[in-house]
Amino acid sequence: MKDCYILGIESSCDEMSASIIKNGREEIKTVVLSQMDIHKKYGGVVPEIASRCHIESATMVLEELFQDISINMEDIDGISVTYGPGLVGSLLIGLEIAKTLSFIYNKPLIPVHHIVGHIYANSLVNELKFPLIALVVSGGHTDLIYMEDHFKFKKIGGTLDDAIGECYDKVARVIGLEYPGGPLLDKLATTGKDIYKLPKPLNDNSYDFSFSGIKTAVINLVHNEQQKENKVNVEDIATSFQETVIDILTKKTFRALKEYKVSNLIVCGGVAANSGLRNRLDLLSKDNNISLSIPPIKYCTDNAAMIAAAGYYALKENITSDSSLNVKAVDSIDEYLKRYKTNI
Ligand code: KG4
Ligand code: ZN
Repeated sequence: MKDCYILGIESSCDEMSASIIKNGREEIKTVVLSQMDIHKKYGGVVPEIASRCHIESATMVLEELFQDISINMEDIDGISVTYGPGLVGSLLIGLEIAKTLSFIYNKPLIPVHHIVGHIYANSLVNELKFPLIALVVSGGHTDLIYMEDHFKFKKIGGTLDDAIGECYDKVARVIGLEYPGGPLLDKLATTGKDIYKLPKPLNDNSYDFSFSGIKTAVINLVHNEQQKENKVNVEDIATSFQETVIDILTKKTFRALKEYKVSNLIVCGGVAANSGLRNRLDLLSKDNNISLSIPPIKYCTDNAAMIAAAGYYALKENITSDSSLNVKAVDSIDEYLKRYKTNI
């Protein structure tokens, strides 16, 4: 069979990235340009700045992608792009580039839902084995998804308020860490003790999550200690917070695996880079005979390799669009499939 090369483009937040993936699994080359240092001084991503920076960096990223590789645009079989969810201004830059390339080179334009991209980051490391449960833990999402086969998604639970990554960043800020606080809080959590009894968020029989309460609990804890003029032990807060959220995430995930009689677990999204979560999932999977897949950190945070990998499987499902494709700040996977997948 002829090899299939997909060019992926991802610009939904503060990373501009382009990648070429062969047959949905093999990385030819990926370029990621992060704006983290620019947004750091504002304590979070400033949407207007993010889109302006994308405009400035897009051509550079694409030029670098095609440097020193033997693939050129003529070899590309499809152009996949994140159309949403994400920041509208940021998404628009990636989408316009994808549309332009698709028009000039007469290649199929493949819309990819950002979370579907995160899920398919796993196909870059292991062939997906079905049925599986996907735990999606990113800055904007916390979902449990059951997959019966490629491009067959059933959301079984999700966050009712804040996403886990958002919660990490907010708690990190409260204890004085820089943006993005998630990775720094993770590091700090390895040095403290789990001594603060924080409330277990939505510790019930559903597969849903809630992280706004624990964020408030940490804010109150810090304020109370400050009012009493006690020294706030940030290491212990970090450890206690990390233990509490890992507990609830893994508890619900492993209950889902049992109830759905599934032995394959994949984890994805920026928070899948978390060392505590990775260690706990590893242990629990061994104890419960679960085959676990977590991508290396470069495929956990936003990147175009995952969008190109998902694009390969999307193209197999005939998920393509004409040039009327537009960005969507908010969109569910169900809505995405309803719009583009003809055989559901
Ligand atoms: O998936 P991602 O790159 O972007 C979104 O699609 O949202 O996730 C970014 C999130 C941020 O909130 C960041 O703080 C968090 O992932 N993150 C982490 C770690 N590395 C990144 N959170 C906890 N521990 C980490 N090691
Ligand atoms: Zn993401």
